[in-house]
Amino acid sequence: MRTLRDLGDVNGKRVLVRVDFNVPLDHGAVADDTRIRAALPTIVELRRRGARLVLASHLGRPKDRDPALSLRPVADRLAELSDVHVTLAPGVVGDDVGALAEELAPGDVLLLENLRYEPGETRNDPELSDALADLADVYVNDAFGAAHRAHASTEGVAHRIPNHAAGLLLEREVTTLRALLDEPQRPLVTVLGGAKVSDKLAVIERFLEVADTILIGGAMCFPFLAARGHTVGSSLCEDVDVELAERLLASGHEHHASLELPSDLMLADRFAADARTRELDGVDVPDGWMGVDIGPRTSAAYTAEIARAGTVFWNGPMGAFEIEPFAAGTRAIADAVAGAPGKTVVGGGDSAAALQSFGLADRVTHLSTGGGAALELIEGRPLPGVEALS
Ligand code: 3PG
Repeated sequence: MRTLRDLGDVNGKRVLVRVDFNVPLDHGAVADDTRIRAALPTIVELRRRGARLVLASHLGRPKDRDPALSLRPVADRLAELSDVHVTLAPGVVGDDVGALAEELAPGDVLLLENLRYEPGETRNDPELSDALADLADVYVNDAFGAAHRAHASTEGVAHRIPNHAAGLLLEREVTTLRALLDEPQRPLVTVLGGAKVSDKLAVIERFLEVADTILIGGAMCFPFLAARGHTVGSSLCEDVDVELAERLLASGHEHHASLELPSDLMLADRFAADARTRELDGVDVPDGWMGVDIGPRTSAAYTAEIARAGTVFWNGPMGAFEIEPFAAGTRAIADAVAGAPGKTVVGGGDSAAALQSFGLADRVTHLSTGGGAALELIEGRPLPGVEALS
């Protein structure tokens, strides 16, 4: 993978930088600017080297030119964070956008409009890739969060601009996640939560090979518990997931890692903040109740495993943490990961949101900006946005 160091002299050159500014909005303002902040080192470095910057990102999944998904709020937030004037282009490509890119002086920043205003973006359309390539002399991909997409701005354009490289964020993400799999400080303890076994099947299989211990939480534990013959009440638990869990448990002796399940649970009579709740000492969920979080004994056992780990990888909450009475298990794991003496890597998505909401985001070694991309890399699938940078 080529890096910024391989680009040579970029002074006065137009550099197209694919960033992932796909951030949550709230009433038209940026609600979480983590991804914008994460792209700043590359922007600062390229401006320092005299580049003329053309930034490009998608935002949401618009089918057309939806004004609610304009990058205007992102441009404003980027200008505040970087203390640089950011011009927002009227579109993605075209003569007027090309003219704005031409006019850039060294250090100037132009942000293209939402890439997904162009239907050719997600189709990896050759014409759109050509038009994007016309805007620049050099291409940098710093959008790790979108690296699992073979789109015009992440894949097609890289093949059309020979002087291309990974940005500093994408380079750090890939290096950190590959090191986690290839040369972890042992023991490697992975904490996996979330809703469904089927969503994380390939990730669990990979960690069964490379990790020492896998700690399972979230609704994903119920198919495993059902496969071991426990009752699950009205907990989230689909038959297809129980079958997958049975298969994984049956093949356990072939694997390197041990797979741990909760030994107690927090129950609720319905999925609401004002539900009746009770702790269950054990894992046989009675009728009329659902598991909504791991229990205190499980939290303590998982915390102890995390504390003795050389490396921790965490993806997925332990319960429905967005509802306060069901957040204790996820908070305990977040505290344990933040305080762990080993190297700590947290996958994006919900576990990143949980860490942010507990104010612990800066207490881990690496907080990935890519949810789907991080999981696909762990699964061992080639990421088109990374492959294109060789
Ligand atoms: C993400 O938020 O996961 C990335 O930006 C990718 O977005 P997408 O799933 O809409 O391609």
